[in-house]
Amino acid sequence: MQQPTIAVIFASSLTGKTRKTGKYIAEGLGADLFDLKKQTIINISGYRKIVFGTGIHNGKPYAPLVKFLEDNKDEIAKKKTSLYICCMYDDEKGENQCEKISEQLGIPNAVFFSGKGEKNEADFENIVDDFIAKQRV
Ligand SMILES: Cc1cc2nc3c(=O)[nH]c(=O)nc-3n(C[C@H](O)[C@H](O)[C@H](O)COP(=O)(O)O)c2cc1C
Repeated sequence: MQQPTIAVIFASSLTGKTRKTGKYIAEGLGADLFDLKKQTIINISGYRKIVFGTGIHNGKPYAPLVKFLEDNKDEIAKKKTSLYICCMYDDEKGENQCEKISEQLGIPNAVFFSGKGEKNEADFENIVDDFIAKQRV
């Protein structure tokens, strides 16, 4: 079987929201899923696109993701990338936070999921489905 062309690589913490969301996204895309808590060395050379995920603690993305991006920056620079952020703010504060982290990590296509939007049958926000649909192109 051919290797999937998309990888979802995430760092999650206490609630596992970023992990659960990553799993849902990877299933939607037929992508490979990597948890930076379990694996920090990942061969990304075969992927066309990488979807990154992180939660936020005190305005900051999680350290394992920051480290992975730094350690693999040359390889990542050759890929299409996007970022989802699991956080608690759903307002302007969430938008500003998302923008700041997107700039800090150097990943322009960032979205944030606060868990407060309208949900689908799988109990994920509809905007997660919108995000998945955009990753296919
Ligand atoms: C100590 C702590 C600090 C947090 N700080 C922020 C924050 O600055 N901004 C935010 O939007 N959410 C914040 N949150 C909420 C988490 O980012 C949110 O619950 C996220 O879904 C956690 O995902 P995870 O369980 O996969 O790590 C914080 C949560 C904790 C426990």
